[in-house]
Amino acid sequence: QDRQIAVIVGSLRRESFSRKVALNLARLAPAHLKLGIVEIGDLPHYNEDAEKDGPPAEWTRFRSQVAPADGVLFVTPEYNRSIPGALKNAIDVGSRPYGKSVWAKKPAAIVSVTPGALGAFGANHHLRQSAVFLDLPMMPQPEAYLSGVGKWFGEDGRITSEDTNRFLAGFMSAYADWVEKLLRGPGELAD
Ligand code: FNR
Repeated sequence: QDRQIAVIVGSLRRESFSRKVALNLARLAPAHLKLGIVEIGDLPHYNEDAEKDGPPAEWTRFRSQVAPADGVLFVTPEYNRSIPGALKNAIDVGSRPYGKSVWAKKPAAIVSVTPGALGAFGANHHLRQSAVFLDLPMMPQPEAYLSGVGKWFGEDGRITSEDTNRFLAGFMSAYADWVEKLLRGPGELAD
């Protein structure tokens, strides 16, 4: 059965490595996972007054794109050892109005990305902290901390290393299992 996965990219940069990784993940994922990027760059800063006055069209568009998805995949860089503000804002926008969060119970995973070292660990784990509160079940294993990504891509945008492609395909396969486990319940996985 096809599963629609909302992909949230934490960078707004045109040549973003995170976005390139996300496009490669879409290619490497099991065929029944349909990945589509939901854009976050136009979302006004979250403000409770605006919610009362009638939410901005961009918030409504974002919420209505994430809400029907079967799962959420975050692909994000690290800014100052945390997640980029634009991503935090998108998470906040999706979490409200109170009781109508688009995140609750959606099987999720995170891939953190950096051209530097340390795999954007800080961003990865700060996002996990919010996920706990949002009741957004974040796949615990395998983890994906991608370092040194600046040299990963060929002219066509594809990741050139076969080892890396294999690792990422394995990650997406594990994520597909995580999605099924949560959507169908553990008892039905045996068949
Ligand atoms: C960064 N960068 C960065 N990298 C990292 O590994 N840890 C960090 O804490 C930070 N902090 C940071 C703060 C700010 C404000 C910027 C603009 C950048 C570097 C970052 O990894 C690099 O710019 C990536 O290329 C950003 O991801 P995209 O846009 O390529 O997806």
